[in-house]
Amino acid sequence: MKVSSIKKNSLFISVALVFICSQSFAEITTKSTEPLVAYEIMEEVSKYMQIISDAISREDWVQVKKTALQIANQRQPPFSEKIRIVAFIGTDLSRFKSLDAKKQAIAHALAESAARKDDDAVIADFAALENICLECHQIFLKPFQNHFYGEREEYR
Ligand code: HEC
Repeated sequence: MKVSSIKKNSLFISVALVFICSQSFAEITTKSTEPLVAYEIMEEVSKYMQIISDAISREDWVQVKKTALQIANQRQPPFSEKIRIVAFIGTDLSRFKSLDAKKQAIAHALAESAARKDDDAVIADFAALENICLECHQIFLKPFQNHFYGEREEYR
């Protein structure tokens, strides 16, 4: 082998190594420092719950209805993230989906109760909605965050 081609080869190898390393570092950083879109959506839902709680105390049924519908129609994570989530949840997927569907159904019921200005029903639906949040979090929150963010504290 000629000296010049050895040099070329080793240059190629180091460029390849730098490339591979930066790829894997990029993967590590996205995995451990950036919250999922699912997390941003949950933060939005949490804000909606606060708005509803405040609107209930002011008996502002229009606001309750509007915000309950925002929960029912919450945006979805991008497809690529959904694939990661589905892969992680695995055999628990039907349980996860059914809790999510229940949340949606109760949010719709809450919007209807508010439209009827039925304060007792609004309060009952709101409590049911909070219970669904808790139920899903008790099962999925910790494992989910451990898996996607590692044992880190920032997102707890
Ligand atoms: C079907 C399951 C499910 C339901 C129902 C659900 N969540 Fe979540 N929630 C999650 C998961 C999974 C996470 C972790 C997401 C992450 O950290 O990327 C989460 C995270 C959160 C967080 C961030 C918590 C933290 O400690 O980091 C908030 C706030 C939140 N959800 C609010 C709500 C509210 C309010 C409701 C009900 C209206 C709700 N969620 C219903 C699954 C659910």
